[in-house]
Amino acid sequence: MTMMPAISTTALPDAVRNAWHIAALSRQVRRGKVRRVVVCGTPIALFRNDDGVGALVDRCPHRNYPLSAGRVHQGGLECPYHGWRFARDGACVAIPGCTLGAEQASRLAAQAVRVCERHGAIFVALSDTAPAEPPLPPTLARADCDHFWWQQGTWKGRAFDAVENVMDPFHTSHLHHGFIRHRERRLPVSLEVASDGPTITMTNVQTQPDVGLMSRFLERERTHSASRYFPPTLVEARWESKRGLTLCVSAFFTPSSDDSFMPFARFSSPHRISPGWLKELAIRLFLSPVIAQDRQALARQHAVMEEFGRPQFVTGPGDILGNRLYRLWKGEALEPGADVPVVSDL
Ligand code: FES
Ligand SMILES: [Fe+2]
Repeated sequence: MTMMPAISTTALPDAVRNAWHIAALSRQVRRGKVRRVVVCGTPIALFRNDDGVGALVDRCPHRNYPLSAGRVHQGGLECPYHGWRFARDGACVAIPGCTLGAEQASRLAAQAVRVCERHGAIFVALSDTAPAEPPLPPTLARADCDHFWWQQGTWKGRAFDAVENVMDPFHTSHLHHGFIRHRERRLPVSLEVASDGPTITMTNVQTQPDVGLMSRFLERERTHSASRYFPPTLVEARWESKRGLTLCVSAFFTPSSDDSFMPFARFSSPHRISPGWLKELAIRLFLSPVIAQDRQALARQHAVMEEFGRPQFVTGPGDILGNRLYRLWKGEALEPGADVPVVSDL
């Protein structure tokens, strides 16, 4: 496989650029199909043949035609310009009208990107330094759960601000007033922050479900909820009751560029009385307006930062994670330990 030198020019930290990222859901790249995605500034042509998924940098090495405009032919990705064909490992396997020597297959190769398919998602890594496998928390694969994926194209805004949004409980009473919580009818909660070094968790100890519509329909009881940040781009949010897990949302924010990202969310909930399709329907119905609110908020926030040239944030008393998310995003580890719990009204 030809590993690529960095060809994009984003300001994303190396820790982000070099990680595994979800590029697409498996169902978005069917057999014989090609899909163009941009991950950390690098355009990629994803394609699937009978053996699996291939990922090539979206630039034909011959005359720089976009490979994603091509077709899957005889198991390879064929460039539409002169018909050069590339295997999943990037090797050039055919040049119409010419005979190809073995030496030419690698000299004329397209740049291949590491690719791996897990739990219905296609992950790519732009660097050799990423681990052998995408590191994934176990809930994604729990056999006693119903799972489904939700993806909504490419959003305007910074992937990091999306991570912060999901880890921030205070906006839920205001931006999501009526859907998740209520601006005036706030509930007492204890917010407990702990880090093990590479990840940070905020546990929200709250014995009654939220007063918003969503919880009233989807939750009967609650002991606590917790959001855990697995840098650089995964936040796992869990809602727990005395019976155990109620719902887990694993939200992945793949940066496309410095100011756009693709959100992918996997919803996991234990098999109980209601069938999986009904839970999926209910979650999609209630979460759609909430997701639209977050999407608009991130785009508006980004537009202001662009107008003023850069972000300039102050940290208030509710921002109890301080700069710790940003430090993890950049690839730093935190001092392991727990904060004194913060008692608040949400
Ligand atoms: S540009 Fe792709 S085959 Fe010539
Ligand atoms: Fe939100």
